[in-house]
Amino acid sequence: MPTQQTVLLVGGTGRTGGRVLQQLLGRGIGVRAIVRSGGKLPPDVAGNPNLTVIEASLLSLRDEELQQHLRGCDAVISCLGHVLSLKGIFGPPRDLVTRATMRLCRGIEALEPAAPVKFILMSSVSVNRPGGLDTRRGSLERAFLWMLCGVLPPAKDNQRAADFLLEEIGPNNAFVQWAAVRPDSLLEGDVSEYALHEGLVNSLFAPGSTNMANVAHFMCELATNPKTWADWKSKLPVIVNAAALNVTTAKPA
Ligand SMILES: NC(=O)c1ccc[n+]([C@@H]2O[C@H](COP(=O)([O-])OP(=O)(O)OC[C@H]3O[C@@H](n4cnc5c(N)ncnc54)[C@H](OP(=O)(O)O)[C@@H]3O)[C@@H](O)[C@H]2O)c1
Repeated sequence: MPTQQTVLLVGGTGRTGGRVLQQLLGRGIGVRAIVRSGGKLPPDVAGNPNLTVIEASLLSLRDEELQQHLRGCDAVISCLGHVLSLKGIFGPPRDLVTRATMRLCRGIEALEPAAPVKFILMSSVSVNRPGGLDTRRGSLERAFLWMLCGVLPPAKDNQRAADFLLEEIGPNNAFVQWAAVRPDSLLEGDVSEYALHEGLVNSLFAPGSTNMANVAHFMCELATNPKTWADWKSKLPVIVNAAALNVTTAKPA
């Protein structure tokens, strides 16, 4: 009998993270969720025998405690984000996503797992790939984004977290492999057809849309489907609703 997969989830009390949690449990995956308040988790997951809830502030955990939670995990999914309030956007920790990404990846490395652990980050279409690879972005939009990163800490934080994965972890790390998922404007709604792209397909001035359920579905696929992982590891896939693009390319299971 194959051993059960285990995923460590952070941000599971959030809008997208809650959907990731529900879909992972629906697939029979074991989940360890580090959350500040277990009471904010989706009500239907309570009592699920495959769920372990760790009530703690991720950034306050000691290294040894974090490593204990990471030990034996096949994948880590981060749906952390700055809460959309003045305090969430401008208050500390302004580098929430970057620090969490660094701590989780360094924690995995410290454990020296026999097989690389997958690290799957919820990122954003405001994040650029290096070297001008996201050619879709014109000079006006690049200037606007540069200004955004200057005045909006979450924009800068998301870019720094992706840069850390690209530059510090890289594509050949023996212990951590990664993918940074870039959704467009988040929508409610069920899992539906969605499209995946290596680069941007919309602009910040004419955004596309992505159901949070689709982000969750793709993140679960990355964690559990070897073919999906082989296709997208070390990349920053852009995910958009197929309906918004008027195409029908990707299919949910
Ligand atoms: N909004 C959009 O249209 C959009 C589009 C593309 C990408 N994104 C990105 O997607 C990510 C997630 O978005 P979302 O709307 O699903 O997020 P969300 O509902 O705001 O959830 C944020 C999560 O992060 C946790 N969190 C916030 N501050 C924390 C802290 N200091 N320490 C520990 N945990 C903390 C929250 O925990 P608590 O429940 O304890 O507060 C919650 O679980 C964000 O990074 C965002 O930049 C957003």
